[in-house]
Amino acid sequence: MERFKTVFLVAGLLFFSFSILVMAFLPWLSFRNQSVKTVSELSQQLTKEFVDLSVRYPENFKKYYGTPSSESYGRALKSGRDIYISEACWHCHSQFVRPVSNEDIRFGVVSEALEYQNELQMPQMFGTRRVGPDLIREWGKHSNDWHAAHFFNPRDVAPTSVMPRYTWFFDKNDQPNKKGLAIIAYVQWLGSWNEDMIKGGKAK
Ligand code: HEC
Repeated sequence: MERFKTVFLVAGLLFFSFSILVMAFLPWLSFRNQSVKTVSELSQQLTKEFVDLSVRYPENFKKYYGTPSSESYGRALKSGRDIYISEACWHCHSQFVRPVSNEDIRFGVVSEALEYQNELQMPQMFGTRRVGPDLIREWGKHSNDWHAAHFFNPRDVAPTSVMPRYTWFFDKNDQPNKKGLAIIAYVQWLGSWNEDMIKGGKAK
């Protein structure tokens, strides 16, 4: 073994350089001219679910977000993303439909690189584990009140769920508070950017 030490060293360095080339340099080459969408660009198009939150939970919505507008939507999305990180949702959920194992049948259209070229995916939320389902096509799969009930106690709607309760997303009247509204707005945003792509089952 000792005799091969230089060979291993050289091979190691070569593979290292190769991985930098393939995983850093080539992606940089193909994306360097693509602009990164900012939150204010993303929030121009309100989902009907965000507007619905203002109707369903008028008091708290008004208190924390005012009226549904691209400004309040941007704020909710940003804080929803931050909550997604701080509550470690990514520990159990992925945000990437892979082109293998018929994942598109289960979750929806296979993910495309461009979908991640925005401020809310920096750092990207691909995740590495799937204790729960993938969430990148979550938009419109459930209603807002389903999500509220689910965050309050997942086992009320999915009896065998291992997802924890998030009671601190609710005020003393069990209505979604600032955090609750933000996280619901965020999960209802995931995949909402291209309706045809999701409904038609065909990426554009
Ligand atoms: C311990 C692992 C775990 C953590 C942490 C977790 N989840 Fe889940 N989640 C699950 C499991 C398992 C399911 C599937 C059963 C169910 O619906 O509860 C699920 C289901 C969901 C669903 C419904 C998906 C669908 O389409 O049916 C959403 C939305 C969701 N989680 C969002 C979140 C968010 C947001 C967080 C962080 C605040 C989070 N989860 C944290 C395990 C987890």
